[in-house]
Amino acid sequence: MTLSSTLSVPSASAIPRHLAIIMDGNGRWATRSFLPRTAGHARGLQAVKRVVEACGQHGVEYLTLFAFSSENWRRPQEEVSLLMRLFVQTLEREIDKLSERGVRLRVIGDLDAFEPRLQDLILQAQERTAQNTTLHLTIAANYGGRWDILQATQHMLKAQPQLAAHPEKINEQSLAPYLSMAFAPEPDLFIRTGGEQRISNFLIWQLAYTELYFTDRYWPDINAQHLQEAFDWYATRERRFGRTSAQLSQP
Ligand code: IPE
Ligand code: IPE
Ligand code: MG
Repeated sequence: MTLSSTLSVPSASAIPRHLAIIMDGNGRWATRSFLPRTAGHARGLQAVKRVVEACGQHGVEYLTLFAFSSENWRRPQEEVSLLMRLFVQTLEREIDKLSERGVRLRVIGDLDAFEPRLQDLILQAQERTAQNTTLHLTIAANYGGRWDILQATQHMLKAQPQLAAHPEKINEQSLAPYLSMAFAPEPDLFIRTGGEQRISNFLIWQLAYTELYFTDRYWPDINAQHLQEAFDWYATRERRFGRTSAQLSQP
């Protein structure tokens, strides 16, 4: 099981071990260029490739990308369909390359809502890359932080029904193994592109002590240099986890 930032102080290094990103601004990127919003999603995919590559080079171990939120179903049907098609195509076309590079792919979220073909592709891609260890790439799709906490609670109580009779015994460690990101340390750095400064129901449990970085740049414009800027900013943060500055400088 991974360490909790609220139960003990995690070790921190200059490069984030786990980077979580809300890839926002695809639609505005397209609108700015008089293109349909969907063109922005297609271009956003190129940025995903650049960032995966750059994370590999920096030695980031876990990269978690928010691709489709549980609230994104509220978008126009056309846009949702295009996003689903893009997801299918990407899995079909990119999985060989990702696997060769040692990427382990996981998809978190309520996958039942996806069409069977997409669900199959996801399962295949996960199995196919299950032995890889270079970079843990996680795509959050039909994901919501509240959904995650609720599904974890339900699974916990199914597995340990005695906890329902003794709710005082429920603690972080009882719930944590059932959360979708149980396999990973908590994110060190969170990046949101596109100018908004909100979490939009992303990893609400796991972001408890994450450093939050916001940039106005639209996601399709993001490149390795921009990622470097975020890492440089991250390296200047003093991660106190509740302690004082003076305590940190003590040996
Ligand atoms: C993020 O870009 C991609 C998804 C949510 C799928 P948006 O599509 O939200 O782009 P903006 O925020 O409208 O510019
Ligand atoms: C968050 O972006 C979800 C993803 C990037 C997948 P949105 O653009 O949907 O977020 P809100 O609705 O503006 O907060
Ligand atoms: Mg948006």
